[in-house]
Order: sequence, then structure tokens, then C-alpha cells
Amino acid sequence: MSIDLEFSKFASEYERYNLIQEKVADELIGLVKGKPKRILDLGCGRGALAKRIDWEVDSFVGVDFAKRMLELHPKDSHIECIYGDFNNDTLYEHLYTYQFDYILSASALQWAQDIEKVFKHIHHFETPYALAIFTSNTFRTLHKTAGISSPLHTKESLLLHAKNILQCRHHLRRYTLSFENTHEMLRYIKRSGVSGHRSLLGYKETKALMRNYPLSYLEFEVLFLYT
Ligand SMILES: C[S@@+](CC[C@H](N)C(=O)[O-])C[C@H]1O[C@@H](n2cnc3c(N)ncnc32)[C@H](O)[C@@H]1O
Repeated sequence: MSIDLEFSKFASEYERYNLIQEKVADELIGLVKGKPKRILDLGCGRGALAKRIDWEVDSFVGVDFAKRMLELHPKDSHIECIYGDFNNDTLYEHLYTYQFDYILSASALQWAQDIEKVFKHIHHFETPYALAIFTSNTFRTLHKTAGISSPLHTKESLLLHAKNILQCRHHLRRYTLSFENTHEMLRYIKRSGVSGHRSLLGYKETKALMRNYPLSYLEFEVLFLYT
């Protein structure tokens, strides 16, 4: 199953599994300077950011490639939901026809296939922005125990591209989430969206992981990039 369909499949129960993304969205909104009137949200999902905007805006454009997520996004006369892929140049050709005062993205750009290209597009808008991106240190011990490498960008490569292209400020935030047992933990991983719903392990490997995982919690690392 392609990743956008997987995000759609879990969209309705997503809220129960997105505790960390909720914290990330809170922190990201806290980084917004002033009260921007025209906002773009890349990878908007069910609207965690739109729901947190407590000032009046003229327009809020949310982009996501999971139709079911967009269906669950808040709707209003000033909100436009665009079904699009932030890896795709044609999306930006369309977005460049808009005027934005701020670009936001929470817990989504870790899935940028070419993060350098996405940063260049963000830079091209010449507007302030705040981005929160999960790094490869997310599920660090789990990946180490399973002997697999993270599908996410390392914080070093994110920072390198951010320094070269965006020249922005940044900080790193680490979170942990505790579980009663590894079964619950694996269920969370499958449903949370942090892994992009990609199954990297087969049945046997999963069983071995459940036996050998040394922690009672999962680790997350998020890089905040902002003007
Ligand atoms: C973990 S959710 C975060 C959603 C929301 N921003 C939040 O803070 O709760 C990641 C979102 O990014 C979307 N996404 C992932 N890759 C994408 C892509 N290439 N283009 C557009 N949306 C994408 C997913 O469909 C999903 O809704």
C-alpha cells in the first residue's frame, strides 16, 4: 500500500495516537511571530495547526496528500484544503500564485524525499516560517535493537541544508512516550503516523524486537526550524 493511502486508512483514529504531534504543534504555534493573516500549512493532516490559530486570519491553505486527512480538516470560508504532494514541483507552481505571510509545517516534512528541494521552495516564498521535523533519532533504540536504519533524515543533514538554504534559527526537542508493554508500543508505532506507516520488519523480526527492546518508552527527536 502506498504511504498516502496508509495515512488515509488511519486518519479517523489518528487523534488517539498523536500525543507527540500534539505537543509539537503546540510548540510550533508558540514560535509564530505576530498574527499572520495568510498562512500555508504543508502536511496539514486533520488540522492540528488550523485548530490552534486563535487569531483572525484571512486565509489558511492546508496541503496534504492523504484525502481522508483533508476530509477531517476544519472547514470554513477562509480555509482551503489542497490535495497535493509537497515533494512535487507542480504543487509549488500553484502555491506561488498565492500570497502568504507565514509558512508552517508540523510533523510532516520528515517525509520529504528531497528535503533540499523542499527547503528551496520554502525559501522561494520569502516569508517567515516555522517547521517541525522528526529526525532519525526518533525510535533510535528501537531501530538499533532491530538492526535497521531510520528512514528519516538525520538532524545533521537537516541542519546542513537548513544552514545552506534557509539560514534560520533552530532548536532540538526530545520527547519520550511510555508504554505498558512492547505490544502497545508497536501498535502505537503502526498507528501514529510517525513511521509513515511503513513496516520495516517482518513477523519474526518483530517478535525478536518485542523480546529484546530494553526500554519501556519510545524516543522522539524533533528539529524546529524558524525565522
Ligand atoms: C504525522 S501527520 C502531521 C499532521 C499535522 N501537521 C499535525 O501536526 O498533526 C503527517 C501528515 O503529513 C502528510 N504527508 C506526508 N507526506 C506528504 C507529502 N509528500 N505531501 C503532502 N502531505 C504529506 C500526511 O498525509 C499526514 O497528514
